[in-house]
Amino acid sequence: MAQTLPKYIDIFFTLFIFSSLLQAQSQQFSRKLSSTSLGFKKEKLSHLHFYLQETVHGDHATAVRVAEAPTTNTSRTSFGVIAIIDDPLTVGPEPTSKIVGRAQGMYASASLSESRLLMALNYVFVEGKYNGSTLSILGSNSVFSKVREMPIVGGSGLFRFARGYALAKTYFFNLSNGDTIVEYNVYVIHY
Ligand SMILES: *[C@@H]1O[C@H](CO)[C@@H](O)[C@H](O)[C@H]1NC(C)=O
Ligand SMILES: *[C@@H]1O[C@H](CO)[C@@H](O)[C@H](O)[C@H]1NC(C)=O
Ligand SMILES: *[C@@H]1O[C@H](CO)[C@@H](O)[C@H](O)[C@H]1NC(C)=O
Repeated sequence: MAQTLPKYIDIFFTLFIFSSLLQAQSQQFSRKLSSTSLGFKKEKLSHLHFYLQETVHGDHATAVRVAEAPTTNTSRTSFGVIAIIDDPLTVGPEPTSKIVGRAQGMYASASLSESRLLMALNYVFVEGKYNGSTLSILGSNSVFSKVREMPIVGGSGLFRFARGYALAKTYFFNLSNGDTIVEYNVYVIHY
């Protein structure tokens, strides 16, 4: 007995040191990592090309006006209006073309002097290896300019650490009902 007691104390002491170490680690706020330890290998540049199909009328509208200011209706630029969208992204310009994702988010008329929108949305992809991955766009969209550039500020899934830009070009605008098809060229750096 006299010989085994110190052994127990030894084990107890070791356990105590070990659990203190574990606790110190679990309470660590930040640490340095190599990018390969999270599976990030080589940075690459991808080009995505698709068309956004926006329907603003009828039962199947993909863009809905959700809020406005009392002065929005008398504003030349609809200043203050906010719309929520869930627009299909297709491979080709035809509305029946294969869907590769959706543009989900909102835009707001944010200029007093021109038709310029604040865009805050995600492209949620559903096609092939990109299924479930997203890109986040936060930018300014001067809708009547020929080509509009908007920053890609991040992403998820295959697009983790994404950064880049999207070029938007109106492909078709139906003056009588407001439906729009926009061609997108997206250049994105990711892993
Ligand atoms: C603005 O016009 C729209 C469409 O005509 C109408 O639904 C809405 O109630 C108007 N809003 C205000 C604040 O007058
Ligand atoms: C995309 O992923 C969802 C959920 O995992 C799955 O249900 C769907 O079939 C996938 N679509 C394609 C085109 O792979
Ligand atoms: C434009 O909208 C009008 C009114 O809804 C519709 O009759 C016409 O077919 C549309 N044009 C095209 C090319 O989709």
